[in-house]
Amino acid sequence: MRADYGLQPMLYRLGVCLVIVTLVACSSGTSSYGPINETYSASALEAGEAIYASNCSVCHGQNGEGGIGSRLTGIGHRLSYSSHVKIVLQGRRSMPAFSRRLDAAEISAVVAYQRLAFSESKK
Ligand code: HEC
Repeated sequence: MRADYGLQPMLYRLGVCLVIVTLVACSSGTSSYGPINETYSASALEAGEAIYASNCSVCHGQNGEGGIGSRLTGIGHRLSYSSHVKIVLQGRRSMPAFSRRLDAAEISAVVAYQRLAFSESKK
């Protein structure tokens, strides 16, 4: 009898897991996951890609490989989301500040793009 004791909660947990997996699978068209499981909408990523191409790639390279600016590969692992946003807003040494050139939505889009597109697995 004791052996049966854990079965019900286990089945319950399995059910919860299945629901979560299904939800994630269904939402894959509208969101993607960053290096530390951050979620971004497809529209933000699309906007971010365009903003990156016209504002950042000149220094950081088309694919974040670096140049005048630092290499951004794996940036989502190296910087917390808030320090990432802060650097883009305020700049740092030769990195220009973008707080007056981009609005809040544009900044969050370009940060989302960098954190997802330049994850470590896409060297
Ligand atoms: C004029 C060249 C230039 C442009 C344009 C530029 N950056 Fe940079 N960026 C730099 C440099 C140089 C650094 C290194 C700063 C330092 O040494 O502290 C840097 C650093 C960074 C970092 C921190 C990297 C790290 O490893 O800590 C981030 C994030 C970043 N830039 C994002 C952006 C974004 C987003 C844009 C476009 C909106 C952008 N940069 C545009 C030159 C540039």
